[in-house]
Order: sequence, then C-alpha cells, then structure tokens
Amino acid sequence: MTPARHQKRVFSGIQPSGNLTLGNYLGALTRFVDMQNAGIETIYCLVDLHAITVWQDPKELRAATREAAAAFLAAGICPEKSILFNQSQVAAHAELAWIFNCVTRMGWLSRMTQFKDKAGKNRENASVGLFAYPALMAADILVYHATHVPVGDDQKQHLELTRDVAIKFNHDFEVDFFPVIEPVIEGTATRVMSLRDGTKKMSKSDPSDMSRINLTDSADVIQKKLRRARTDSEPIAGCMKDLEYRPEARNLINIFAALSAQDPDSVAQTYEGRQFADFKSDLVDLAVTKLQPISQEMNRLTQDPSEIDRILGHGAEQAAAIAEPILRRTYEIIGLIRSRKGPSRIGG
Ligand code: TYM
Repeated sequence: MTPARHQKRVFSGIQPSGNLTLGNYLGALTRFVDMQNAGIETIYCLVDLHAITVWQDPKELRAATREAAAAFLAAGICPEKSILFNQSQVAAHAELAWIFNCVTRMGWLSRMTQFKDKAGKNRENASVGLFAYPALMAADILVYHATHVPVGDDQKQHLELTRDVAIKFNHDFEVDFFPVIEPVIEGTATRVMSLRDGTKKMSKSDPSDMSRINLTDSADVIQKKLRRARTDSEPIAGCMKDLEYRPEARNLINIFAALSAQDPDSVAQTYEGRQFADFKSDLVDLAVTKLQPISQEMNRLTQDPSEIDRILGHGAEQAAAIAEPILRRTYEIIGLIRSRKGPSRIGG
C-alpha cells in the first residue's frame, strides 16, 4: 500500500524513439488524458535518456522528441493541467538514477525480460545504459514521489522493480521516504497486438510498418493497414471467451472496443456471425474518425518547433522544482554532503 502521507501523484513516460503507435495511444496516452481530466496531479515525460540506451541519430531524436510532444498535446494533454517535459532537461533524473544503480542488484536487472528481448543474442554488445534502464525508470518516478503509474502491460515488470528499489532504499537507510508505487494497468487496450501477428505486441520498433498504426498515418494508410490486418476465416464469435484461441480476432475487437469506449463483449455481440470484411470496414471508419484529428493537430503543432520547445522548457522548470528538494533529501539520507545550491539548475 502507498503510505498515506504521500499525496496521489501520477507520473508516466514514453520513449521518443520513432513514431508513436496506436498501442501507445490506447495503452498510455488516452489514459494519461483521463487521469489529467480527473483532476489528479499529473507529470508526463518524454524519456529521451531512455531512448539513447540504443543508437539514435541525433537529428531524428530531436525531431522524434518534438513529434512525441505534439502527440501528447494533440491527444489532449494540456500544459496548464499537466507537467509535460523531456527527461534530459531535469538533471535530477540522472542523479537519482546513479544512486539507484547502487541500490539495484545485478540479479534483479538480469531477470528483466525487456533487456533480454532488446539485447538479443549479442548481450556483450548491449550498452550498460540498456542494462541499467529500469533503475533510471525508478528514478523518473520516485524523484517526484509519484504514487500511481499508468502504463501498458509490457511495463509491469519494470514497475515491480521500482517498488523493490523503494523498499530496499527505505529498508537500508531505515527511512520511510520513497513511496511504494501502484502500477495502473487498466482498460481494454493494455496490450495492443501487431496487425500481422496477434501473438506479438504492436511496437514502434517492429521492422514491418504494416504491423502497426502510427499516429502520423494518413486515412489511406490506416485503411490499407486495417484491411490487410491478419484475421482467420471463421465468422466473428459473439463473446470474447469464444475468441480465446483466435489472437488476431481478439486484437481487432479489443481495438474497436477501446476506440469506441465499449466493452469488448458487446462489440463481439454486435458483429456475431458476420465476416471480418464487414467488421473491418466499420473499424476503418472508427479509426480514421478518431485518429485523423490527432494526426492533423500533430502536423500543425510540429510546424512550430519553438513553441513545442517553450512548452517543454516550462514543464521542465515545474518538474525540477518538485524534484530538487526530494533529491536533496535523498543525498542527506545517504550521507552525501551538499553544501551549496546545485549548479544553475532549472528551477533548483
Ligand atoms: P514505451 O515508450 O515503450 O511505451 C510507452 C507507453 O505505451 C505503452 N505501450 C503499449 N500499450 C498497449 N499496447 C501496446 N502495444 C503498447 N506499446 C507500448 C507502454 O506500456 C508504455 O506505458 N520504459 C517505458 C518508458 C518509461 C516510463 C518511465 C514509463 C521510462 N520511464 C516511468 C512509466 C514511468 C517505455 O519504454 O515505454
């Protein structure tokens, strides 16, 4: 349980490494907006330091960071209600991450499935940053004493590690300082699957662009991808349980349900006995209606990069003002001397 003395505060992040996908949108962004609009204190971050744990072209990273910021804004994140910034502008993340590198155990990190997947067979050649990635993620969250973290299903293990880091730190230093966070993994779209293979997660790093819908895709491209999405030859069953062994069918129904804010079973019931061709044409209409305004707004916003940079800079100042006292106190707890104010920190 989160200690009562920590006020409810939401933190979450998205890597600005390439196009954001429908998975990021349904699994994360729409829920970020809901939490913001529920009046909870919300802090959202473009985790550019996480992105560089694998090679990024500098020019593309800059463009992808601005584009991801535009996606947040277009999806409904409002800088007056939420703090929105990119991670590298608030030095406290990297500072606390170092401390957490000294709390986190090698064994914990070795068990991370995302590291195993991303490093692949050639582990010796993976960056140290990729291995230590979850410690930085714990720092992102705990440097704000955030209590709730909305994510998709694939981040569950990382959030368990964040809890372990907080518990070990509190135990080792005999304090009750860092909150033991609550992962928030809810809704019908916690795991949107690839359009080409219903057993694989939809991902921005999948080599096939046909496997995903990008938030920047035009109506024509969305139509092409959904029409070619893999299905089976059976008609649609009337409830999700009967689709248990039909991963592609389940995925398309789940996407429909998430986009139309319905229960997947009621979508299945509506299309019971019908062929996928009919269903797909309704899904195309729904997806285009929902996603086109977002891609158009992203397009408009990215025309003015200096305005995006201004919003991120302002967010970074607000974020640093929350993080600095927490970081200072962490240094004191550990026994590190900090006798002067930090070097010209934003808001510090
Ligand atoms: P990232 O950038 O891979 O994904 C961002 C968010 O989108 C969710 N997501 C999905 N949800 C449903 N279906 C999918 N196919 C899908 N693909 C992605 C992810 O679960 C995530 O919520 N390590 C994180 C970024 C991070 C972070 C943090 C998150 C860094 N620090 C602190 C929360 C708190 C990541 O790589 O997410």
